[in-house]
Amino acid sequence: MRQKIVIANIKMNLSVPENSVLFEKYKKEIASERTEVVVCPSYLDIYSAEGIFKGTKIKVGSQDIFYEEEGRYTGEISPDQLKGFAEYSIVGHSERRSNFGETDKIVAKKAAAAARHGIVPIICVGENLHEKMDGLTKLVVTGQTEASLSELTAKEVAESVIAYEPIWAIGTGHTCDPGTANEVVRNIRNLIKVLFGEKTAEKVHIIYGGSIDEKNIKGFAKEKEIDGYLVGTASLNHTAFAKIVDTVDKGSVGKITRKVSKPKSKTKTKKKTTKKKK
Ligand code: PGA
Repeated sequence: MRQKIVIANIKMNLSVPENSVLFEKYKKEIASERTEVVVCPSYLDIYSAEGIFKGTKIKVGSQDIFYEEEGRYTGEISPDQLKGFAEYSIVGHSERRSNFGETDKIVAKKAAAAARHGIVPIICVGENLHEKMDGLTKLVVTGQTEASLSELTAKEVAESVIAYEPIWAIGTGHTCDPGTANEVVRNIRNLIKVLFGEKTAEKVHIIYGGSIDEKNIKGFAKEKEIDGYLVGTASLNHTAFAKIVDTVDKGSVGKITRKVSKPKSKTKTKKKTTKKKK
């Protein structure tokens, strides 16, 4: 039985003090027994979020990650810098794909970089409205998933999270029909089985995102294939987010089995001061 996961994607919505207020409320109101709860604030808030949630079951994630270790990459944050603060990282969110030109190839490199540093990648895939209208959902999602996982081993895929997020449902208030979302999730799992084998397909977490709120979550929570939710707008409201977690948690059955391996290779043991900067 896979553990359910509910992830808050705060995006670029709140100031630093506003984030702290929200997270203190999360801390008081979220009481999950079995569900993994992950909060993804902006980079600026990761450090304080880590402090606020210390000693609780709530985990911190980042909204993005870069694939290089270090160097002349102005504005980027490496997996090595994030490690220790973020246990998860969203990669390939459709807003990054469309606003910042992130290709499947970049997404694949980011997912692999995260996984190799012991950070769980939350790999986003999903079709746009035209693709949906043209009946291309399966084709688009299959292509994106295969390409975005291309640099991961079967073991790394097993420990990853794949988020099916139809672009037309993100931030629009129009969710995907739960049955349809369940079907897409099932198709993704079948694809993983073909690409990486049955054991990997059984372990990988495949979640849904797109206008999830405290009301429509009840319909989704009944669907068997969906392992959790990526929540944007509703995560800005602590009461709504706590209710979403509660609904998912009450519907959860079975033992918590989710475990992530620590990275094997030691990264960056050498002293930086001895290195000549280019
Ligand atoms: P939404 O955002 O819940 O506002 O649709 C979800 C997401 O973008 O991850």
